[in-house]
Amino acid sequence: MIHFRAYHLSFLTYGAALPVRANAATSASQALTHSEMLSQISTFLTAGHETTACALTWTLYALARAPSAQTRLRAALRACDINDVNAVLNLPLLEYTVREALRLHAPVSGTLRVYAGVASECFVPLQNPIRVRVPTWRRLFRRFRCSSSLTGEAENDQWDLQSGVFLRHGDILNIPIQTVNRATDVWGPDAGIFRPERWAALPPAVSTIPGLYAHTLTFLNGNGGAGGNRSCIGYRFAVAEIKVFLACLLHDLEFSIDDDVVIEKRVKCVPLLLIIEPNC
Ligand code: HEM
Repeated sequence: MIHFRAYHLSFLTYGAALPVRANAATSASQALTHSEMLSQISTFLTAGHETTACALTWTLYALARAPSAQTRLRAALRACDINDVNAVLNLPLLEYTVREALRLHAPVSGTLRVYAGVASECFVPLQNPIRVRVPTWRRLFRRFRCSSSLTGEAENDQWDLQSGVFLRHGDILNIPIQTVNRATDVWGPDAGIFRPERWAALPPAVSTIPGLYAHTLTFLNGNGGAGGNRSCIGYRFAVAEIKVFLACLLHDLEFSIDDDVVIEKRVKCVPLLLIIEPNC
C-alpha cells in the first residue's frame, strides 16, 4: 500500500507558506512574532500531516476494496471539471466518499481528557445504563443492611445497573472516537462496511452524535455551546486536501488490491508531553 506521507508533506508545506505570507502582509502591531509563527507552523505540520496522509491512505484502501464505489466516483469526477476546485469540493459523491472513509477509518481513533473539576465529585448521567460488578464489601454490606445501589438499581447480588458515573478530580476519560463512529445501534448493522451511499439516507439516530463534521467524532466535538470546546481547527483544510488529492488520483488511476493481502490496522498511542516553562 502506498503511504501518502511524502506527497502530503510537500502539499502541507505549501499550505504552511500561506500564513507566512499573510503574516508578512499584516501590520506590525497585528502580526505574529517570528517565534510565534514558528510555533504555529510546527503545530500545523505535527497535527495536520500524519492525520491527513493516513486518512488518504485508508480512503484509497477502502476504494480498492470496493471497486464498484470507486468506478462510480471516477465517473462522477470525469463528468465534472476537476480543474474547477469549487466543482470538486461540492461534488456530492466525493463528499459522501470522504465522509464514509473518515467515519470508518478515523485517523485519531480516540483521545483522552482529565477531569479537572474543583468539586470533589461530579455525577455524569448516561443515556443507557451500564452493568457494573458489585464489589464484595458492598455485597456483604447489602446482605446485612439491605441497602440499594449508590448510583442505580441492583440487578442482582453480583451486578448493579448504573445510570451514571461519578467523576473525581484527576480521573482520566477515554473518548472512543472510532467506536462511536462504528456503533451499530447508531449507524445500523452494516456500520463496519464502507458504503458511501449511506450518506444519502442516514438513520435518524446519527443526528444525536455531536460531531464537528458529518455526525462523526473524527474531528471531535462540534457542540461548542454545550462545553465541547476542543476540536480540530484544521478540519476544513483537511477535508479539502483529501478531496483534491482523490480527484486528481482517481480521475486517471485505478486502485486495486489483491484479495489475499490483509492489511492489519494498528493504533499507536502518542504520548503528549506538556512542558510548562516559567515566564522569565
Ligand atoms: C484527517 C485529518 C485530521 C484529523 C482526523 C484530525 C483530528 C483532530 C482531532 C480529533 C483533534 C482533537 C484532539 C483532542 O483535542 O484530543 C484535532 C486537533 C487539532 N488539529 Fe486536527 N485533524 C486533522 C487534520 C488537521 C490539519 C490539516 C490541521 C492543520 C492544518 C490540524 C490541526 C489541529 C490542531 C492545531 C489541533 C489542536 C486544536 C486545539 O487543541 O485547540 N488538524 N485534530
